[in-house]
Amino acid sequence: MRHASGTEHRRGAERAGALVLFGVTGDLARKMILPALYRLTADSRLDLPVICVAKTDLGLDGLREHVRQAVGGVRDAAFDKLAGNLRLVAGDYRDPETFATLREEAAGKGFLVHYLAVPPSLFATVAEGLAGAGLNHDARLVVEKPFGHDLASARELNEELLKHFDEDHVRRVDHFLAKEPVEDLMVFRFANTLLEPIWNRSHIRSVQITMAEDFDVCDRGAFYDANGTIRDVVQNHLLQLLAILAMDPPPSTDARAQLDEKWRVLRAVQAIDPADVVRGQYSGYLDTHGVRPESTTETFVALRAYIDNWRWAGVPWCIRSGKGLPTTDLEIVAELRKPPVTMFHGGDAPPGPNLIRFRLQPDAGVTFDLLAKEPGKQHTRPVPVSVDFTKVLGPMEAAYERVLADAVSGDPRRFARFDLVEESWRIVRRVLDLPDRPLPYERGSWGPEAAAKIAPGGWHEISTTFD
Ligand code: BG6
Repeated sequence: MRHASGTEHRRGAERAGALVLFGVTGDLARKMILPALYRLTADSRLDLPVICVAKTDLGLDGLREHVRQAVGGVRDAAFDKLAGNLRLVAGDYRDPETFATLREEAAGKGFLVHYLAVPPSLFATVAEGLAGAGLNHDARLVVEKPFGHDLASARELNEELLKHFDEDHVRRVDHFLAKEPVEDLMVFRFANTLLEPIWNRSHIRSVQITMAEDFDVCDRGAFYDANGTIRDVVQNHLLQLLAILAMDPPPSTDARAQLDEKWRVLRAVQAIDPADVVRGQYSGYLDTHGVRPESTTETFVALRAYIDNWRWAGVPWCIRSGKGLPTTDLEIVAELRKPPVTMFHGGDAPPGPNLIRFRLQPDAGVTFDLLAKEPGKQHTRPVPVSVDFTKVLGPMEAAYERVLADAVSGDPRRFARFDLVEESWRIVRRVLDLPDRPLPYERGSWGPEAAAKIAPGGWHEISTTFD
């Protein structure tokens, strides 16, 4: 038996002495980053200077108040500690003076993590500004999604960033990778031996990934309309999930070993065929502020991907996601092939297949849908056998806490390496900007009816809860 913890690849994984946060007044900082910083501080997991860079000069007191509001208006010891760690640099990201002031503020604070919670159009500008002030040495750059708009723009952006930071010192956030239930998938697959022998084309008929959201695009009309569901969540979050589910076991837990295996499986995914895609748009979307009149952006997609390797050839990987759906859930359903001979019948309907369900949101756990004999009868009935991880194991950490903690510690495992980003753009490249109008669907439905044909035998109802 071999213990495969391996030797971690340390280059680029230096621990930060200070966090530099660009875009502190933006939505992302307010909703995700500042609350995560507060919780990490409260748990004594983070205690370092946080240098906030903002266009508006709030003053240090104004900054502290802004942070206090973002963390729910609290005033406790953890907030005071975080407030004491805050520093402010105000100025335009295009002005070298801003970076000169930042250099003074950061002097003597050790290794820096520059966290860019700003629109992607500013990534290159900020990277250049940092380099102009020499702040790209002894430093790591963390950028949020979206990383590019397609393969070509992702490569261009990457070239811009790599002029100033090497790949080992760039982190591309995909917050799904930091979700504990997503990591559970890897543990479930590789810490147990029960799944591996059947986790292949001989036993699995199809895999369905559903990411449903019952809310609409809210106040993000302009952003969403320029992107659509495929760019917003398929190219990144859902293809990352596919990679974790479909990859071969990495030889060790080294970050590089894991990322290499994910890359290998994404390499084997065919570019999705437009014939394997159904796009939808919920009714009322065109009235949203920021959405272009006559927009053909999709708010729903159902698609099929195929992986050309020995493990998965011919198995459809079906992905559907959308806004305005009946529920907010993230679930993966693997359908096993039926027994070669039907010995037991299913009552009124033919017996269904065994299903393995991984629930990732809002709760987390695994369910096996097995067939058992209906008492007193000679036919079978499906019975779920479930484990609710939250009940058994306790609450899980929020994704952004782990994103921030990893940004500071330097662990690259839960970020998207560029070669994976490239493969993901390649996989969706034929189905971006399709010219046809998406099919209409009503809010609260499961998208256009035509989406049913994407999954062989139809989509399995998702379980929605363990109770
Ligand atoms: C974001 C998308 O990346 O992920 C949003 O831009 C989506 O449209 C969100 O709602 C979902 O993330 P979570 O963590 O809330 O499930």
